[in-house]
Amino acid sequence: MHKRIFLHAAALAVASLSATHSIAQDNTFKIGLILPMTGLLASSGRQIEAAVKLYMAQNGDTVAGKKIQLIIKDDNTLPDVTKRLAQELIVNDKVNVLAGFGITPSAMATAPLATQSKTPMVVMAAATSSITLASPYIVRTSFTLPQASVALADWAPKNGIKKVVTLVSDYGPGIDAEKFFNQRLLLNGGQVMESLRVPLRGPDFAPFLQKVRDIKPDALFVFVPSGAGAAVMKQFLERGMDKAGIKLIGTGDITDDDQLNDMGDGALGVVTSHHYSAAHPSAANKKFVDAFKKANPTMRPNFMAMGGYDGMRVIYEALRISKGQGGGDALLAAMKGQIFESPRGPMYIDAQTRDVVQNIYLRKVEKKDGQLYNVEFDVVKDVKDPGKAQ
Ligand code: PHB
Repeated sequence: MHKRIFLHAAALAVASLSATHSIAQDNTFKIGLILPMTGLLASSGRQIEAAVKLYMAQNGDTVAGKKIQLIIKDDNTLPDVTKRLAQELIVNDKVNVLAGFGITPSAMATAPLATQSKTPMVVMAAATSSITLASPYIVRTSFTLPQASVALADWAPKNGIKKVVTLVSDYGPGIDAEKFFNQRLLLNGGQVMESLRVPLRGPDFAPFLQKVRDIKPDALFVFVPSGAGAAVMKQFLERGMDKAGIKLIGTGDITDDDQLNDMGDGALGVVTSHHYSAAHPSAANKKFVDAFKKANPTMRPNFMAMGGYDGMRVIYEALRISKGQGGGDALLAAMKGQIFESPRGPMYIDAQTRDVVQNIYLRKVEKKDGQLYNVEFDVVKDVKDPGKAQ
């Protein structure tokens, strides 16, 4: 009799344990964050990770009754690795969302997996226009190169820059930057003297810069990915291109806040167009930059950090709106159309294209409190990705 009661109680205990276990699983919301923590874009991985952790520290790790679990994976900036990690995160970890994606080829390689598994995929960094076309489950919180380039091609001819040579990294975002900058400059009566492309990995800028010196345009327009700008700046100055009367312009990737302050006074006056500057003068941005620096004393947040921070906002809010019900499709629906004040300025996720719509700022490198910053001096409001109209 006693034994039976005991067995019964033991069985109940086991049952309730497994019930607790499955409730615990149901109550977890997993974010698989794939970042380039090593390799070519390691600085971007570091920035995004810091921003994502800051967002979670500020907003807690429970949303709609679910406990957020962040699973960070390093893809070494290699697209094949990104794809394999995404597969593992979907199949083994059963993540609710994929996020991160440092370079365009990594996002492209993963897109079919997002579609097959109906997993929303938040692109926080990669910026080739066509990425959002690669899967209906992709939402982007970074920017697009056409978005950033067109504003500069409108500014340049009005400011004495008519003849331009372009120099871009030879892959998706570089080709987008070249195409949209050149088209718009021509439309505005400017002239493209030459368009040069350098390899993404291990580029030697020297022969290209020599060529630019010989052509002697009014300006050199540059796109290189985040982390590569300092090398271009160094060689540009070492070769005395500025003294030869050639201005350096580009998308803000080249005067990346992660590196800018170490580029030296030679960077002063460089004009770029971009969606985020650590010097953006708003209360929301001051709060973000102060908190970021407090948590990471040796770092200044750059546009990569911004993409990660806002990406987390989009995920948290989608979970809140969908109440954790309805899986990937409900989550995706709740991401579309989100509109909010980001530290970068106002932004929204276009419900049709799932791409980010935001202000693009014209900025000039200036010294503020003894440090180099991209100081905004003009703005083009609510810019949609011009790549989508093509
Ligand atoms: C990209 O690969 O899409 C990419 C990477 C770094 C940037 C911009 C675009 O700064």
